[in-house]
Formats: sequence, C-alpha cells, structure tokens
Amino acid sequence: MSGRPRLAPSLLAADFASLGSETRAMEAAGADLIHVDVMDGHFVPVLTFGPAIVKALRPHTSLPLDVHLMVEPAEPAVEAFAAAGADLITVHIEACPHLDRTLRRIRELGKKAGVALNPGTSESLLEPALGICDLVLVMTVNPGYGGQTFLTDQLRKIRTLRERIDARSLSVDVSVDGGVNPETAPLAIEAGADILVAGAAAFQGGADEYRGNLDRLRSGGRAS
Ligand code: DX5
Ligand code: ZN
Repeated sequence: MSGRPRLAPSLLAADFASLGSETRAMEAAGADLIHVDVMDGHFVPVLTFGPAIVKALRPHTSLPLDVHLMVEPAEPAVEAFAAAGADLITVHIEACPHLDRTLRRIRELGKKAGVALNPGTSESLLEPALGICDLVLVMTVNPGYGGQTFLTDQLRKIRTLRERIDARSLSVDVSVDGGVNPETAPLAIEAGADILVAGAAAFQGGADEYRGNLDRLRSGGRAS
C-alpha cells in the first residue's frame, strides 16, 4: 500500500469483438495491468477466455497480462496460460488441492504467482502460502459476473492480509477484485490494496472515457 494504486481493467467488461483495440485503449488511458478473467463454466457458471485469447492479446500491449483463473482444477491449466504470454497467473485457493505445488509450478514457468480468495474463504488458509506467492487477490464479489456490488465485509480481510504481509516483510501485492468503483476504491486503498481490478467502472462510456474512468478510480471519485 505505497503511493498510487495500480489499476487493472478487467476485459470482462470490454467489447469482446474488439479485445485488441480495447486493450490498446486501456494502455493508452494509463492502465497498469490488463486483467483477464478466465471462467470455466464449472468453478463459476460462465465460460469466457482460453489461452488462445491470451496469446492473441499478447502483441497488443506491453502491460503485464494479469490472468485470473476461475478454473477448477487450476493446476492443469497453468502451463498453457504461461505459454500463451501471461505475466501473472492467479489461481483460486478453493480450486487448488495442492496449492503449494501449484504456486511453485507457476514460478518455475517464469511467471508471477497469485492466489485468489472467494468472499467466504478465510485469509488464515493462505498463511502457509504467503511466502511463495507474489499477489493475493481478494474477491469483493462472488466471482462469475461483472457489475456486482462490492462486499464491504471483505475490507477486514484486506486489512488483515496487509498486516500479515507487512509483519513478515514479504513482497506480496494485495489486489482487490469486484465492485470497485470511485466510491469503493478509496475503501479498498485505505484497507491496504496495492492493485484495483475494475470492469464496469473502467470500461463505462467507451474509449473516450477510459482515462477519466481510471483517474476517478485512483482519486476516489474526485474530478481530475
Ligand atoms: C468477477 C471477475 C472480476 C470482474 C469485475 O468474477 O473476477 O474481475 O470482471 O467486474 P466489476 O468491476 O464490474 O465488478
Ligand atoms: Zn477477476
């Protein structure tokens, strides 16, 4: 939680027929990462992107591709997304019976490793893995859909994780995903978020609005 929060627009809210230009527009608007929500129709009800889409996006941006795997089991999917050009691969703790092995595998593949927690999952389950991951993704909605309401009871989890990471002097980013908008972004930042994932709030209004949308997320709704 140092300085300016980094923003990761979620392509789930982009025009799926124009993912290349949407990605380029978000980079031009000042995004820090591009968040790619991979949904398998099993761990969550919806099906979205596979590794072929990540591969197709790769030449369109120099920003890190932040791949959020809502896939169960997650481990068998990791290699294909690494080969496709993901920079950061986040798996759900609920979809990883061998979390330690899965995180080490992601790192062996030369990628940053993230762990996501559903709202109903306690942060204490993550304690043993904190030393072998690069990012923790706190879900502030139940995953599966964009445009849901931010669950404020997850702020305590963000705060607790931030305290535990700092207490151990670990270099782990806390990312917050779901219902982030100019009203909720300051709450997440105050609780200790380093990265804000935003779908609807980032993409609303079309490409001409992207820079303003991102500025409002960083500044908590104040005009810029
Ligand atoms: C939810 C996804 C999110 C989603 C966020 O399952 O993981 O990344 O796109 O969308 P908003 O910001 O619209 O809640
Ligand atoms: Zn996501």
